[in-house]
Amino acid sequence: MRIFAGNANRSLAEAIAQSAGTRLGEMTCDRFPDGEVKVQVHEDVRGRDVFVVQSTYSNDFLMELLVIVDAMRRASAKRITAVVPFFGYARQDRKPEGRVPITAKLVANLMATAGIDRLLTIDLHAMQLEGFFDLPVDHLRAQPLQLDYVRSLGLQDPVVLCTDTGGIKIADYFSRKLSAGLAIIYKRRLGDNHTEVAHVVGSIGNRDVILVDDMISTAGSMAMAIRTAKENGARRVLPIVTHAVFCGEALERLEGVGLTEIVITDTIPLRPRYAVLPVTVLSTATMLAEAINRIHTNRSISQMFG
Ligand code: R5P
Repeated sequence: MRIFAGNANRSLAEAIAQSAGTRLGEMTCDRFPDGEVKVQVHEDVRGRDVFVVQSTYSNDFLMELLVIVDAMRRASAKRITAVVPFFGYARQDRKPEGRVPITAKLVANLMATAGIDRLLTIDLHAMQLEGFFDLPVDHLRAQPLQLDYVRSLGLQDPVVLCTDTGGIKIADYFSRKLSAGLAIIYKRRLGDNHTEVAHVVGSIGNRDVILVDDMISTAGSMAMAIRTAKENGARRVLPIVTHAVFCGEALERLEGVGLTEIVITDTIPLRPRYAVLPVTVLSTATMLAEAINRIHTNRSISQMFG
């Protein structure tokens, strides 16, 4: 077994390799003078079970993944698993209007064409994305990690609130595991960067609110949800997300709502400018390493989650 990584999340990849009891494979992944991706694998992968760790939160990193996989295939790797903790373009999974692409499907096709044999990922934006691949997809959940952390906080009379109806499954998981109430924010999206909250369905007044979503991008949804929770009398608001994409005005928006803590994971590295936020980062490295070891030895991934 060999684990390699592009440049998207080196520290996570190193932690995965260490937890899996190995080291990262020797490979150079940089750029030609014109910016094209340049890859050279420096060790023999012929007949190996190869895992390539790369979150695809930018076009550059997606391209790196495709090029690395191509190099591995041409070097006769026996099996190539793309380990994509954050799968970019996942929100473009349908045609909400005419003459628009389904880019998530295109990305799945690109990965398959490059030569991946399997995908290992965490909290896809929608379950149906697994079906965009005609190859095995191992879809891990960050919720057990997040649940352990929430339990350690000893919250008072908690209620789980999701930022929109799409997050109901995650919210329901926390609600059941914590024997907590459940509430939903009904939101109407006005454009790519703007959201409008219609109302909260459920009771959150004078309670500790666990605010769940799969990702924060521009933080429009999350900032609005935090504000709404406070306006509806929440005692404490604890936002928990898996993927901290953090782009556009995310920093200003999150600073503007008076956060005391926000819980994210390391599927995307936290850039230094966001370190001013009261961020708690939960690492997915051990979970990914365990999944990699199980894939390599043909053991069940489902059993990791009971
Ligand atoms: C929506 O379906 C997602 O679960 C997130 O709420 C959304 O994508 C976050 O985007 P933003 O941070 O830009 O509001």
